[in-house]
Amino acid sequence: MEIEYHGGEPEPGTVYLVGSGPGDPGLLTVKAKRLLERADVVLHDKLPGPEILGDLPDERCIDVGKRAHGDRTPQSEINERLVELADEGKSVVRLKGGDSFVFGRGGEEAEYLAEHGVPFEVVPAVTSAVAAPAVAGIPVTHRDHASSVSFVTGHEDPTKEDSAVDWDALATAGGTIVVLMGVTRLPQYVTALQEGGMDPETPAALVERGTWQEQRVATGTLETIVDARDEVGIEPPAVTVIGDVAASRESVVEFLENEREPGRAESETDAVPADVPDS
Ligand SMILES: C[S@@+](CC[C@H](N)C(=O)[O-])C[C@H]1O[C@@H](n2cnc3c(N)ncnc32)[C@H](O)[C@@H]1O
Repeated sequence: MEIEYHGGEPEPGTVYLVGSGPGDPGLLTVKAKRLLERADVVLHDKLPGPEILGDLPDERCIDVGKRAHGDRTPQSEINERLVELADEGKSVVRLKGGDSFVFGRGGEEAEYLAEHGVPFEVVPAVTSAVAAPAVAGIPVTHRDHASSVSFVTGHEDPTKEDSAVDWDALATAGGTIVVLMGVTRLPQYVTALQEGGMDPETPAALVERGTWQEQRVATGTLETIVDARDEVGIEPPAVTVIGDVAASRESVVEFLENEREPGRAESETDAVPADVPDS
């Protein structure tokens, strides 16, 4: 198949805000792959996952995910680095896990580049918010079960007065809730949803490292999902799906090819640590 690109070659002095998709290299977009092969520099963190990162040549890569002592590189430093590299005339890929504009700070990077007069292009991608549930057999919408979906961050403490997420409203809104960055605070927000009036029997699922070799899934209800998380040993990165769609998995799981692949972890001890924080 002959692909016609809009844009073509990476341009000198240009930044490409590229999403990697959820981690399976087969889910990189054709455009992302081409840019990764041809750009002068790739700035990345850990979330794209070992398979995609393992294929990138070290000499063109800069890991901006973590610094010494486990600290993360401040966003301001990453922004400045992007501008510096572009000013040096380099073609630069800023690679993020999933889609850069879904909880990926791509919007902030775009604003900074625009403010500094740096040409940039956004290369959208498959977000884990949809892909991780999907590969576990959970459609985020379903004609019979959910006609809307909310993507929310689980990073914030739901009991905080000025919490940016209105859990009470979500509890009664109907539809599916997909929580990103929500492994650690799972107990707090499932409680907040129940206090907001959501049925404790509402189906729920956690999908860790969706599309990676080490993908793991825990299922239950709003009331039982915290125990299920602990039993399976779910760790970040994982998405939480809350809503009737989460029960759909039961009717398809037996036939899901990706759950039958050899090497896919079935227990805590089989999984490879991802070194990805829950944020
Ligand atoms: C900072 S957010 C980035 C989201 C990303 N931009 C996207 O569109 O998928 C990090 C969170 O994304 C989710 N995530 C990313 N990749 C994942 C994967 N392969 N499986 C499950 N969750 C994933 C997790 O909730 C993780 O804590």
